Amino acid sequence: MPPVRATGQHRSRMGQGVLTAAFPRLDGVLHAECVPLERIAAAAGTPTFVYSASLVRERFHALDEALAAVPHRIHYTLKANSNRAVLGVLRALGSGVDVVSGGELFRARAAGFAGADIIFGGVGKTDDELREALSAGVALINAESEAEVRAIGRIAGELGVEARVSLRVNPEVTVEAAHHYIKTGERGHKFGIPYDDALHVAHVAAALPRVALAGLDMHLGSMLSRAEPYRAGAERLAELCAQIRAAGITTLRHLDVGGGLSVRYADEVPLDPAEFARAVIPIVQATGLELIVEPGRFIVGNAGILMSRVLYRKHSGGKDYAVADAGMTELIRPSYYNAHHRIEAVRRVDGTQLLNVVGPVCESGDFLALDRPMDDVAPGDLLAVFDAGAYGYVMSSNYNGRRRPAEVLVDGDRFAVVTARESYDDLVRHEVPHPDWRS
Ligand SMILES: Cc1ncc(COP(=O)(O)O)c(C=O)c1O
Repeated sequence: MPPVRATGQHRSRMGQGVLTAAFPRLDGVLHAECVPLERIAAAAGTPTFVYSASLVRERFHALDEALAAVPHRIHYTLKANSNRAVLGVLRALGSGVDVVSGGELFRARAAGFAGADIIFGGVGKTDDELREALSAGVALINAESEAEVRAIGRIAGELGVEARVSLRVNPEVTVEAAHHYIKTGERGHKFGIPYDDALHVAHVAAALPRVALAGLDMHLGSMLSRAEPYRAGAERLAELCAQIRAAGITTLRHLDVGGGLSVRYADEVPLDPAEFARAVIPIVQATGLELIVEPGRFIVGNAGILMSRVLYRKHSGGKDYAVADAGMTELIRPSYYNAHHRIEAVRRVDGTQLLNVVGPVCESGDFLALDRPMDDVAPGDLLAVFDAGAYGYVMSSNYNGRRRPAEVLVDGDRFAVVTARESYDDLVRHEVPHPDWRS
């Protein structure tokens, strides 16, 4: 495994082991690693996402080391951030990936991941997507229902290949997460095979000629800050593993406990990877299976910022507003999940003010922060919206005819634009201006 590229003087303790201060303030100006954010804004414009390669590497290593006591594989989850340059950083570390659509499979392969490095999941896979996954030779398909297991068997038969299948089981444990929308492993959720049906589905899978039942999988939700649900869920999977083996099915190789490890946005205390490991490792060890984890946010969440420029200040109905050139179309998390993202002026300003940081979109729900005591920024000032590395760009949209922003990767003292800002032409690229009517 290649050594971590540390950024010299910028190392500090960030609560999850010794990690790089990815966005240090030096002489009053925020930097991405060693690069002043102002330099990136001058080169790439705003709004722009900026990612720290060093922090991505450090998070990967922190988790990898925490799990060292057991044979394991980290499959980074593309849905958090699927930028190919970021994927390249992880691939160089030996990470695998977890994808949930044909598009993410395409991205992973375009970033150089081999089929054997890819887990294919998702609650509603089409026949075409299953065909693509099987043709790519993915390591595992996480199946979410009996009907899907049968579809995988049918398509594997058509293609003349063997499908390695893992059952995504809903362990039906109680989960605490920052928002209702990011819980997935409680009874009645749309995800996974209901626990009581899983043994039956295992029998179905084992009986299909082209299917190898290779694993059991769960994903409880996101931003999980306690180890207990992981322990409870892993125990449920281990019990199921014992039942499957007792039924004479001996093909299980992997136990996948999903993603969901939390990060700090404000004053949360994130789950320490070591505590997570202490909860799941003894259970996995007792099964003799290989542990798989599917982290997304933990790897990239703190490793990105969204840089935006203040366009206007205004006062309305007793409230002070900073109107920025980024909003819900770039970072929907505040509006959609009521999420908190710390915001600071890139160049230190005097004074603080209770501000509403809003975007240019024609929606009252278009905001990055509400009633926030923060830097008293002025038009023209650059803002850094922190911890925007996960579920940022990937959830951006063209609503209001907005062009999706640029993405920049920083590594030590270098930076590169790794996604160009969309052009106006991009907005209409797939439209057919003169309808080709058919009847
Ligand atoms: C199946 C699956 N695995 C992994 C993840 C990654 O979650 P997180 O980014 O919280 O680690 C998700 C996120 O929704 C998921 O649905």
